[in-house]
Amino acid sequence: MKILVTGGAGYIGSHTCVELLDAGYDIVVIDNFSNSDMAAIDGVKQITGKDIPFYQADLRDMAALDQIFTDHRIDCIIHFAGKKAVGESVAMPVEYYDNNLNSTLNLCKAMEKYDVTKLIFSSSATVYRGDNPMPLTEDAALGPINPYGWSKFMCEQILQDAAAANGWSVVLLRYFNPVGAHTSGIIGENPRGIPNNLIPFIAQTACGTHRELNIFGDDYDTPDGTGVRDYIHVVDLALGHIKAMDYCNKNTGCAVFNLGTGKGVSVLEMVETFKRVNQVDVPYAIAPRRPGDSATSYADPAKAEQILGFRAAKSVEDMCRDSWGFNRR
Ligand code: NAD
Ligand code: UFG
Repeated sequence: MKILVTGGAGYIGSHTCVELLDAGYDIVVIDNFSNSDMAAIDGVKQITGKDIPFYQADLRDMAALDQIFTDHRIDCIIHFAGKKAVGESVAMPVEYYDNNLNSTLNLCKAMEKYDVTKLIFSSSATVYRGDNPMPLTEDAALGPINPYGWSKFMCEQILQDAAAANGWSVVLLRYFNPVGAHTSGIIGENPRGIPNNLIPFIAQTACGTHRELNIFGDDYDTPDGTGVRDYIHVVDLALGHIKAMDYCNKNTGCAVFNLGTGKGVSVLEMVETFKRVNQVDVPYAIAPRRPGDSATSYADPAKAEQILGFRAAKSVEDMCRDSWGFNRR
């Protein structure tokens, strides 16, 4: 079975390429390198010992897509490609809607044209409204609060409608907070510029790149006052796509699943675990709350477990150790 992996040079895409190749799937990767480079593709080749057909192209370029679908008989698409920085999306909404929506629409057009009937989409817990009770089930109320989140919400709707009209099998995966890296330390999260996300900032602070971590708020209604999230190891997340693939092969229609652990971890717990397992110092200061942040967000992972047979296996210690294994190089 041949899978087109869009955004396969990115953080989650590259880890999923490794698991797909290890599971015996053939893959073809497209990425425009807007947030990545060839190092991740080389890393995937190094880890798996396999070559990968790779196209450096933009999904908004329909001629490039025609080329790929003419060169390869694609059975399924895993669609990771997209812009994902929340703050940037507020500053550049048109760029975000253009990139994320037109990429998805072009893939739908290619599916219709080349008779591809299966797609797995990278959605996000950010589509849920901020005032839902925890844990978040897939039928919790939706209501993003920034253009990035709306772009995911809109893509979900487009894919749901296209699946219904065409008899496709579409799986929408709502990721919680992916962290960690491949245990080899060869691939991992490599954000450009100053990281927005917690774990990359912790790792860079431990390296000495930043003087200290700002903890955004210690007065939330949480056990220690800092924000609580559902961190999931990126290799577990990648394996969730293999389960989604099995599901896609046996079902039609559009299904949505949370991919998380179901366990909430606070910022302070994460910092202390990172220090302990890696024997490093992470200086921090308490800073004001970050606008748009909620106190608590964690998944109800029961649907993915019952229907996909997916359960995250790696611990917070594994996440911190593997993140450091990649960043300390
Ligand atoms: P990433 O930026 O590391 O990877 C995305 C890849 O897509 C990059 O390599 C980028 O160069 C490529 N890309 C972007 N636009 C493209 C286009 N028009 N044509 C071709 N390639 C393009 O991000 P990631 O963390 O691996 O996230 C993958 C997906 O998962 C994204 O859709 C993201 O929104 C979603 N997601 C991520 C998180 C997270 O915290 N990392 C959480 C929820 C959902
Ligand atoms: N935090 C800090 N200091 C930092 C960075 C983060 O204290 O320097 C705190 C945040 O306030 C929050 C927690 O760490 O309480 C996690 O923050 P992240 O930025 O790592 O993650 P978010 O939960 O804000 O958002 C992430 C992605 C979104 C995605 C969402 C749900 O960035 O794109 O998870 O999947 F939508």
